[in-house]
Amino acid sequence: MASYLITGIAGFIGSSLAHALVERGNEVRGIDNFSTGKRENLAGIEKRVDLRELDLKTPSVALNAACNGVDYIFHQAALPSVPRSVLDPTSSNQSNIDGTLHLLVAAREAFQRDGRLKRLVYAASSSAYGDTPTLPKHEAMLPLPISPYAVTKLAGELYMQSFHRVYGLPTVALRYFNVFGPRQDPTSQYSGVMAKFIRAMLRDEQPTIYGDGEQSRDFTCIEDVVSANLLACSAPAKKVAGRVFNIACGRRITLNQTFQALKKIIGYADEAAYGPERTGDIKHSLADISLAQELLAALEKVSAS
Ligand code: UD1
Repeated sequence: MASYLITGIAGFIGSSLAHALVERGNEVRGIDNFSTGKRENLAGIEKRVDLRELDLKTPSVALNAACNGVDYIFHQAALPSVPRSVLDPTSSNQSNIDGTLHLLVAAREAFQRDGRLKRLVYAASSSAYGDTPTLPKHEAMLPLPISPYAVTKLAGELYMQSFHRVYGLPTVALRYFNVFGPRQDPTSQYSGVMAKFIRAMLRDEQPTIYGDGEQSRDFTCIEDVVSANLLACSAPAKKVAGRVFNIACGRRITLNQTFQALKKIIGYADEAAYGPERTGDIKHSLADISLAQELLAALEKVSAS
């Protein structure tokens, strides 16, 4: 049994990781400031999680204590959303950049104390690629972030690489591409499009497509993101530490196609409304997932055989 710390444990991805780890019999500790996370996301496992209400925006003794004595850290805590960051870049910066740095400093202290920490896996974002015309996006491409959110997520990645190079901390950055699945919050104006569309259609409300709907995304299901995180922990450090991996499905679909597919599944009768294109949006997103296939999924095949 291994011991894990999840930051942002009450969020969509953090809680999905927590459920998976508890199911596998691991010891799970989690921190959250509940700014966007919800306690209900931990329903059924709350008694098996050491939950600590903590904000990464300020360094604290409690944060150092949370990093102490764990084998793995999954850093999922962040203020998500491109449009939120366009409206309020300072808050995104504080949560995503300051918060990440404070976690890294606390993790480094734990690592240097007893060397127990084997991996710190960071939730990076496909938004780092920006609007580069090349598709699919591969890790060797120069990042060209557009929105403040994308800048904050890329800064976190660079800090991960720096702490690996400078202090030997075994960090891995996983660039998630538009994740969707159960427990994704559909209620905020900043929610991911898939959750928003499904909620609207189920309530017989009309979803709005921003722009012409021909923008495309590589929608990635949460189960794949959970697997990628687990594999990033079990892969040999010499192969993955200090590196960045795209985590995605490897296929893209336009928003118009997404809407039509959901409409059919849900049995929604109306058409979508169209609104102005969103500032900071990128047009197309598609991942080259060969690096993850080579270094992470290959491992899965070995462990399954
Ligand atoms: C971006 C990142 C993603 C990250 C997320 C965090 C890219 C390619 N992806 O997602 O990795 O996890 O930020 O928030 O940069 N839309 C509508 N109607 C709506 C809501 C959204 O048409 O009601 C459109 C948006 O304008 C956009 C697309 O749907 O074109 C996807 O939007 P969203 O789900 O918010 O994610 P991204 O901003 O693409």
